[in-house]
Amino acid sequence: TWTTAAFVEEAIREIRGKVGDKRVLLALSGGVDSSTLAFLLHKAIGDQLTCVFIDQGFMRKYEPERLVKLFQEQFHIPVEYVNARDRFLDTIAGVTDPEEKRRRIGHEFISTFEEASKHFGPFDYLAQGTLYPDVIESADTNVDPQTGERVAVKIKSHHNVGGLPKDLRFKLVEPLRKLFKDEVRKVGRSIGLPEEIVQRQPFPGPGLAIRIIGEVTAERLNILRDADLIVRQEINQRGLYNEVWQAFAVLLPIRSVGVMGDKRTYAHPVVLRIITSEDGMTADWARLPYEILEVISNRIVNEVKGVNRVVYDITSKPPGTIEWE
Ligand code: XMP
Repeated sequence: TWTTAAFVEEAIREIRGKVGDKRVLLALSGGVDSSTLAFLLHKAIGDQLTCVFIDQGFMRKYEPERLVKLFQEQFHIPVEYVNARDRFLDTIAGVTDPEEKRRRIGHEFISTFEEASKHFGPFDYLAQGTLYPDVIESADTNVDPQTGERVAVKIKSHHNVGGLPKDLRFKLVEPLRKLFKDEVRKVGRSIGLPEEIVQRQPFPGPGLAIRIIGEVTAERLNILRDADLIVRQEINQRGLYNEVWQAFAVLLPIRSVGVMGDKRTYAHPVVLRIITSEDGMTADWARLPYEILEVISNRIVNEVKGVNRVVYDITSKPPGTIEWE
């Protein structure tokens, strides 16, 4: 029978056998796969492992700091933090087309990753959080309907390491390749990953950049981060985080008229996208109690400067997608 303890032991033996005394590079994303992967590799080969976390600047509020802190302070796994916020913002400055945004973010990720691998390297191996479903499915079955890109494993979708230049091709270490997602979660839990990582809701590789419709600016990122934090706080507080598939905010570039105190406002709307789903392929909008929607709406309009209206997205998938871009 399959146990997490037996898996961990076997994975460590296998990693050591394969890697020997060579160096391994791992890109942390903050999700359960790359976190579990980092933990196993660190246990197996210690400082032959280099974990790089590329901060594109598109994560949710407090997430980058928490991730680095968790790894360094709780797991004692060093993380090379690469602050790439400005260059990612520059690369999509003025871009409003969703596909173009994704394409540019993807390219920027590859060049940042390439530079990091040279800077911290050289490396012989790249650790990837490939799971069993990715192994059995052919390359083009598990695709994002909007982009045609594979979405199951973050590093393979827009963080497409397969697209790295030839002189940067690594040999792969993929110790999770026999596991399903629920097994990764079990392993992650058994090695002490906190629930916030183990049960983390799916989050797109391009992050908040595709939840800001229209141009992405530092100011809009801050607005969305603050609104998004309120959504998460209210959902968490009521124990709904694991009841819904995803709960997030989307910022629209249009403005509408409102009134606050005795002043007219003319500001942006925020869309709440809170959905239930089994696998992300189909989804339905969550029938949340009005009282929760009310609190979220009031808090966002009162606390987030630049937002004067909150709307609830009541579109299922299909015909809508989960994300807005
Ligand atoms: P859609 O918007 O296509 O999203 O209904 C389906 C699921 O995939 C997530 N998603 C992504 N995940 N990289 C990812 O790793 C991406 O580029 C990406 N785009 C969408 C989305 O959040 C949902 O869970």
